[in-house]
Amino acid sequence: MQVDTLITNIGQLLPMDHNGPVKGIAMNELTVWENAAVGIKKDQVVWIGSTDETDQVTANHVIDAGGKLVSPGLVEPHTHLVFGGSREREMALKQKGVPYLEILQKGGGILSTVKATQKATHEELVDKALFHLDRMAMHGITTVEAKSGYGLDRETERKQLEVVKEVKGKHPLDIVSTFLGAHAIPPEFKQDPEAFLDQMADMFDEIKEEKLAEFVDIFTETGVFTVEQSRRYLQKAKDRGFRVKMHADEIDPLGGTELAVEMGAISGDHLAVSSDEGINRLANSDTIGVILPGTSFYLGKDTYARARKMIDAGAAVSISTDFNPGSCVTENLQLIMSIAALKLNMSPEEIWHAVTVNAAHAIGRGDEAGSIAIGRKADIVIWDAPNYMYIPYHYGVNHVNTVIKNGNVLYQ
Ligand code: NIG
Ligand code: FE
Repeated sequence: MQVDTLITNIGQLLPMDHNGPVKGIAMNELTVWENAAVGIKKDQVVWIGSTDETDQVTANHVIDAGGKLVSPGLVEPHTHLVFGGSREREMALKQKGVPYLEILQKGGGILSTVKATQKATHEELVDKALFHLDRMAMHGITTVEAKSGYGLDRETERKQLEVVKEVKGKHPLDIVSTFLGAHAIPPEFKQDPEAFLDQMADMFDEIKEEKLAEFVDIFTETGVFTVEQSRRYLQKAKDRGFRVKMHADEIDPLGGTELAVEMGAISGDHLAVSSDEGINRLANSDTIGVILPGTSFYLGKDTYARARKMIDAGAAVSISTDFNPGSCVTENLQLIMSIAALKLNMSPEEIWHAVTVNAAHAIGRGDEAGSIAIGRKADIVIWDAPNYMYIPYHYGVNHVNTVIKNGNVLYQ
């Protein structure tokens, strides 16, 4: 067989080849192929075999993986990619013990990023998003979800979504867009959050027609949107043909996890304080739990999502950075893999499912991203690591050796 690129001498290959999200205890069963090789033609994987069989393959370009670990490109299913400014000054407030939601109530937090995003030009936001995408790519991410939500008015929400659209054409990573107009209550609507939600819902049709977003998301939280308001808003989104997501049970346990399941959300995200009942329902549903342990860490909390309970009960779990300027300021999903090991008690096998196949399903890309399989996209990472357990173990640094996106070497 003739291929463009052949990766040989792979110490451990993680194919992650599944037909759907991997649930419950199956997340702990990882298929590992030793001494493997992968052939790529154009943007697709066309051959997988043993390094000993590579005489069957003629390649224009050979990459010797030198016995290293090779995995699918990481899938990042929850980020707030497009925003203006930064919030390093809030760190001092956090150190004084001012809670995240209190900073928001006083017009800081999300609302201060909203001001900066409203001020920023389209071009500035494009450049900034490209910068962060480069960082993600360098850290082994090849598909990323991006939310709006720092506009909170028609014009700026559109600006964010249009930035994502432009960036899609400019950056090799695959980007999946989510409309998070319901991210906070802007000050002018403080007395009437329902009117604000109506205004955001009025954008659904144009967003759908112009294909500006695939998913609709909401922040269901004390002082933001109630479960009742969220239910109504998400139902409207579903009626307009969107699949929905939720920022649920991040800080206060309001029953957001239960609502995510009730709404048939593709994912319920955060779930740091989900109730027992919420976890049970999640486990018996098709909703994927996207856990963001970097936010618990970064907000200085002792409470982490009960990933063990979720997985043991049978849920499909993914993990993500939640990259944003307030509650988790990192593009490094490898760091989150370490936090998942240390604070969520997830096994390395579970963690690899969480950042590949399950993450891809959490953003509707299960049939193209998150696996290395014949006929699928060639999104592949070679790691400076001898085995898959090494990545969560050696923490806080970048282990990427080579990133291949759509069959092309992006970093080496
Ligand atoms: O997922 N919790 C709500 N939204 C983001 C944080 C946004 C911000 O602080 O700017 C989150 O944690
Ligand atoms: Fe978020």
